[in-house]
Amino acid sequence: MWDPTQYTRFRDERKRPFFELLSRVEVDAPTQVADLGCGTGDLTRVLAERWPGAVVCGVDSSVEMVEEARRRPSPEGVRFEVGDLAGWEPPAPLEVLVSNAALHWVPDHAALMGRLVAKLAPSAVLAFQVPANFEAASHRLVDEVRRLPRFAPKLGAGRARPVETLERYESLLAGLGMTVDAWETTYLHLLPGEDAVLQWLLGTTLRPVLAALGAEEGRAFVEELGPRLRQAYPAHARGTPFLFTRRFVVARRGN
Ligand SMILES: C[S@@+](CC[C@H](N)C(=O)[O-])C[C@H]1O[C@@H](n2cnc3c(N)ncnc32)[C@H](O)[C@@H]1O
Repeated sequence: MWDPTQYTRFRDERKRPFFELLSRVEVDAPTQVADLGCGTGDLTRVLAERWPGAVVCGVDSSVEMVEEARRRPSPEGVRFEVGDLAGWEPPAPLEVLVSNAALHWVPDHAALMGRLVAKLAPSAVLAFQVPANFEAASHRLVDEVRRLPRFAPKLGAGRARPVETLERYESLLAGLGMTVDAWETTYLHLLPGEDAVLQWLLGTTLRPVLAALGAEEGRAFVEELGPRLRQAYPAHARGTPFLFTRRFVVARRGN
C-alpha cells in the first residue's frame, strides 16, 4: 500500500516536525531506542546518530518501507523489522520510544497509550507527533469524493479519525504515570510542483483509498479529486500554500 518514492517527495516538509519533536527529548545515553512506523528509516538513522551507543530498532508494518529502509546505509546499531506498532514487543524495555506521523493509523489511542507505556523502562521517554489536519479542505474533499455513488459502496463510511486532543493525551498519559509536554503547530507549507496537494495526499491519506479501489477506479477517483483540490488550493509562483496542523507529545515516565 505504501510507496516510498511518493512519500519522500515532500521530504523536507515531512521531516521538520520530527526534528522539532526530537529537540524536546532530553535523554542522555539510552541503550534501547525504537522508532515505530519508521517508514524508509531516514529518521531512525537520525536517532542512531544522536545516540550512537544505542540499539535503535525501526518497526513498520509495510514490507515495501522496511525493504527500502534496509537498502539504505545505516550506522551501526540500527535494525529494521516488519511489525505492527500496536502489537510489537521490544526485546528489552525501551528508554526512548519515538513515533513520527504514524500513530494516527492505529485506532483507539486510549488503549494504544497503555500498550506503548508498557514497553518503557523507568524514566523513559515516549515522544510522538501526529497530524491533526482532518478538518482541512483537503480531507473534506477526499470525503466528498468518497461519498460519490461510484465509490461509496467500495469505500464505506470512511476512516475514523483516531487522533486525540492535547488535553486528552495529557490526561491519558498522566493517568499512566507520565509527565507530559504537549503542543500543536500549524505549518504553512509552500508546496512545489503541479497538483501539489494531490501529490502530497497520494503519499499518505490516499494510500488506503486507492488500495481499496484498484487501478481503474483509483484513477477515476483521482480524476474527480484533482480539479476540486486545484480550486481549493490555487498554486502561486512561490508554490501552493498548504496549511498543516500537527500535534506533539513528549511524555516522561515518572516526574
Ligand atoms: C506517514 S509515514 C511516516 C514514516 C516515518 N515515521 C517518517 O516520519 O518519515 C507512516 C508510516 O507508518 C506505517 N504504519 C502505519 N500503520 C502502522 C502500523 N499499524 N504498524 C506499523 N507501522 C505502521 C506506514 O507503513 C508508514 O511507513
